[in-house]
Amino acid sequence: MITFLRLLTSKNILYTTFAFMTTYEEVFENNRAWVASKTNKDKDYFEKLARDQKPDFLYIGCSDSRAPANEIMGLEPGEVFVHRNVGNLVVNTDLNVMSVINYAVRNLQVKHIVVCGHYNCGGVKAAMVSEDLGILNPWLRNIRDVFRLHKEELFSITDEEKRYKRLVELNVQEQCINIIKTAAVQQSYNKNKFPIVHGWVFDLSCGLLKDLEIDFVATLKDIQKIYNLSNGSSMYGNEE
Ligand code: CO
Repeated sequence: MITFLRLLTSKNILYTTFAFMTTYEEVFENNRAWVASKTNKDKDYFEKLARDQKPDFLYIGCSDSRAPANEIMGLEPGEVFVHRNVGNLVVNTDLNVMSVINYAVRNLQVKHIVVCGHYNCGGVKAAMVSEDLGILNPWLRNIRDVFRLHKEELFSITDEEKRYKRLVELNVQEQCINIIKTAAVQQSYNKNKFPIVHGWVFDLSCGLLKDLEIDFVATLKDIQKIYNLSNGSSMYGNEE
């Protein structure tokens, strides 16, 4: 409280504003330094980057600032197509994620699609709270649905932290299934044997990626008992 009151003095407000300005300006300094580091190694770097993109990966991750896609995968710009949202969800009525998947599969022809969740995920944690969270309710309900689908397993875990970590993993697994349900993925796999869908969890406490080793082929086969959209539509069927 005392610190808060101190911040209210005019001098400190100026200082605080200045501190934010410095941070904001630093971003552009960082950007210029980054450009220099790239062009020092390869003077045509940005000319090549501007030409086209041919990423082999589509990464669908959480918006959490601690899980930057390129960085944790050690990939350069141009190597991974990225979509992020709260809780790394693939909701079939979300035009945003569905457009990303469709474009990545049908146009970019990515070889791998990764859903990457992370432990310490605020979205997953919020979905475990018995509380009306307002505008977040419909979005987080997708995670509560994952809980309901796996309630026997999750309720059998007595340690709350372990239960929460398992929900992070099961949420990734279910979002992978949602991707496998799409016509774009099924038709491309039928024709090209790609993309392969993978589920990962990023462990913030050590920086390592954990592969949940989802059996893509077996899951696809199982999913297609109900959600078989692999026959090309008139729009895409003539490509064969
Ligand atoms: Co998160």
